[in-house]
Amino acid sequence: MVKKIRWGVIGCGGIAARRTIPEFTKMASKAELVSVMDISEQRAREVAEKFGIPHWCTQEKEILAKDIDAVYIATPSNKHAEQTMMSACAGKHILCEKPMAISLVEADAMTNAVTKANVKFMLGFCMRNNVYNKKARELVQSGKLGQMVMGRAELTCWYPPIPGAWRQDAKISKGGAFVDMGTHCLDLLEWIMDTRAVEVTGFQDLLVHQYPTKVEDTSTILVRFENGAHGVIDNYFNLPDAAAQNVLELHGTKGSILAHGTIGQDPTGKMFSIIQPQETGYDAHQVRNNEAARDEYHFEGIGLYGQMIDLFSECILNDSEPPVPLAEGRHSMQVVEAIERAMRERRVVRVGE
Ligand SMILES: NC(=O)c1ccc[n+]([C@@H]2O[C@H](COP(=O)([O-])OP(=O)(O)OC[C@H]3O[C@@H](n4cnc5c(N)ncnc54)[C@H](O)[C@@H]3O)[C@@H](O)[C@H]2O)c1
Repeated sequence: MVKKIRWGVIGCGGIAARRTIPEFTKMASKAELVSVMDISEQRAREVAEKFGIPHWCTQEKEILAKDIDAVYIATPSNKHAEQTMMSACAGKHILCEKPMAISLVEADAMTNAVTKANVKFMLGFCMRNNVYNKKARELVQSGKLGQMVMGRAELTCWYPPIPGAWRQDAKISKGGAFVDMGTHCLDLLEWIMDTRAVEVTGFQDLLVHQYPTKVEDTSTILVRFENGAHGVIDNYFNLPDAAAQNVLELHGTKGSILAHGTIGQDPTGKMFSIIQPQETGYDAHQVRNNEAARDEYHFEGIGLYGQMIDLFSECILNDSEPPVPLAEGRHSMQVVEAIERAMRERRVVRVGE
């Protein structure tokens, strides 16, 4: 019989209940869900009953005492550090939702705890699992687009003030639209182009909503990557969901990829490329026959969250490096802090300066 990794979920009432647990039970082939824990007893019990999970509880120490190999942490962001460290101490492998933590100091403490306990850690940048995003990466990395010049990644939603919503409280979330959605976008651009953000600047504003603390609902960030390409990462909590395009654009010297809806929780989207290197010299007429080289892509979407569970389970089974390791989580946190500084000091900031 194929060995399956035995999992527990910490914080089972939000994204875990909406996406990860349903996909876990439906499609994950290398994983078995043994226990769920939530600070809310009602949520823990209801999720366990709904998905036929054998055990539920309301305390970390109880779930960590179970015979489980790995935990999926899907709690508000200010709990990630503490719960990662507790899980590492208990010898459990950890799949932690993004953002890794709410400070670089916390990310470093998590790194130390995980390294010391010799367990595996993966950050939940699940949008890498979208089949269109994988294809975009394959095209870029095989050199089909030539030298990369620019990438844009957008993710938006309508997120009005909601009493008690932790994302609207800077002490819990660290920030608004960028930390919540832009970290996925940044990760995608870096992963697709196999590069890292080195300089950041931009604008962030609280333009529309009256949140209780000043986290931005409008974030437009400019990035320079190590490979020289520029990036635009735009995230808004104030655009109607029906109008969301969630654009991914990748432009290089030999052509472009344009995608819609491939950044988000759904595993689908639309994507085409126009790859047509300029064969002649400068053309003053700038003839744009861009239909000639247009390729449309059509793929079946596979659940991003179920794939994430299987990928991490496989890493544990094969003792291999997780696809989004500690260092990438830490880097993402470093960019978040560089952006905060860029906003505060109204200038371009080098990541890690
Ligand atoms: N990768 C993605 O696509 C994606 C999507 C949504 C959320 N997230 C991330 O997942 C995490 C959770 O977000 P959410 O939208 O599910 O939030 P949520 O508020 O909807 O759900 C969080 C759950 O954690 C529980 N909880 C709160 N404090 C807890 C504690 N101390 N111990 C145990 N349980 C606790 C809550 O009762 C709730 O059931 C965040 O880090 C968020 O950024 C990732």
